[in-house]
Amino acid sequence: MTAYEPKLVCFSCKFGWGYLADERELAKQVKNWIPIICSGKVDSSHILKAFKQGADGVLILGCRGGDCHYQDGNYEARKRVILLHKLLESYGIEKERLRMELAIDPEGKRIPVLVKEMSERLKKLGPVKKIAEHAKTASAV
Ligand code: FES
Repeated sequence: MTAYEPKLVCFSCKFGWGYLADERELAKQVKNWIPIICSGKVDSSHILKAFKQGADGVLILGCRGGDCHYQDGNYEARKRVILLHKLLESYGIEKERLRMELAIDPEGKRIPVLVKEMSERLKKLGPVKKIAEHAKTASAV
């Protein structure tokens, strides 16, 4: 039997994270890594779609406070994460499966570290049930 390896999707803002790094090298270290133009571009539907398609966790890396190139995209994304925590919990999904970090890491050295840390936490939580299953359970109650 193979050991459980959680599926983690990592969105990272290109302005704050890894812009000095070799993207191809970083992509080899971080599976399901999606560099984006601003964390504010990560919509709730992207996050829910990731969970629906089998992700066990989603990590969003945005620019630190005051450094967002689109003014407040990072704060907008953080608001979404707070709301989604409540939604996920209403489906019985642990809010720890969705994490956001606001910082700056031009060389992208923290990206694999944060992904590994979160993967370790997800291993302890185990596989996530599909959102559709949670929705069925919730509607049956
Ligand atoms: Fe980095 Fe908006 S530009 S979070």
